[in-house]
Amino acid sequence: MTPEFIIVTPQARPYIAHVQLNRPKELNALNLQLMQELRDALQQLDADENVRCIVLSGNDKAFAAGADIKQMAGRTAVDMYNIDQFTIWDGIKKIRKPIIAAVSGFALGGGCELAMLCDMIVASETAKFGQPEIKIGVMPGAGGTQRLTRAVGKALAMEMVLTGRFISAGEALAAGLINRIAPVELFLEDAFRLAADVARQSPLAVKVAKESVLRAFDSTLEEGLHFERKNFYLLFASEDQKEGMKAFMEKREPVFTGK
Ligand code: CAA
Repeated sequence: MTPEFIIVTPQARPYIAHVQLNRPKELNALNLQLMQELRDALQQLDADENVRCIVLSGNDKAFAAGADIKQMAGRTAVDMYNIDQFTIWDGIKKIRKPIIAAVSGFALGGGCELAMLCDMIVASETAKFGQPEIKIGVMPGAGGTQRLTRAVGKALAMEMVLTGRFISAGEALAAGLINRIAPVELFLEDAFRLAADVARQSPLAVKVAKESVLRAFDSTLEEGLHFERKNFYLLFASEDQKEGMKAFMEKREPVFTGK
């Protein structure tokens, strides 16, 4: 079925897929259907051999202004527990290919959390990041208190979560939340350029490396180092390792197949 709230282009560039959030009138507020469509699309792209990296964007004005407040307003705690919307987010967390968020305008609440669930963030000069849930009597629920704190540290995370203050792209870059900033007319292109830099690497090594970097968040240093070392050794079973090192010695570009 064609999704209603997202636009999926599996080959926006060679080996690069583009998923665009598409509820512009609501500033891409993340209702349940949108999140289900997004999870399903990302899972399909994860299984598509011709996709090596995914760019996720909104539009110039909004990446996403958060979970859909109108959809949530009347819900009880029991409704929230039964709907359990964040299990959809768990599905996105399990995507093995890298996802680059291209953020322009608002990335607020669940929008900021969705950007942080991606592996890298390219922002436009107009991007605004924030966790304003406190202003509507709640708090972040899709990882904001954890991922934001790990990304920017306690001081800034606490201020953003407790006051709802938005930070600019410049402040986000200085704090380590995002990778780079581009003018608004170029941010998407810049995200595709970064995706191309990823897509030209061994797709197998990229997936294993992504998994290893993410392990840094979920484990002790000792466990993480052990995980990294096992994965490093494992890659020596791949054709891409043979090809990559041979190409280096032959002073040519490698041709990676993901095998
Ligand atoms: N949910 C539902 N609708 C939203 C929305 C949201 N999160 N954000 C914006 N919209 C809707 C507005 O209601 C408005 O719709 P109508 O035209 O039908 O009134 C439309 O999008 C345009 O928004 P505004 O008129 O408010 O635009 P603005 O430029 O004046 O303000 C804004 C932009 C500052 C982003 C403001 O819309 C805003 O504060 N939005 C809410 C941000 C927020 O609180 N996000 C957190 C949500 S809770 C959450 O995300 C929980 C979690 O952890 C998962």
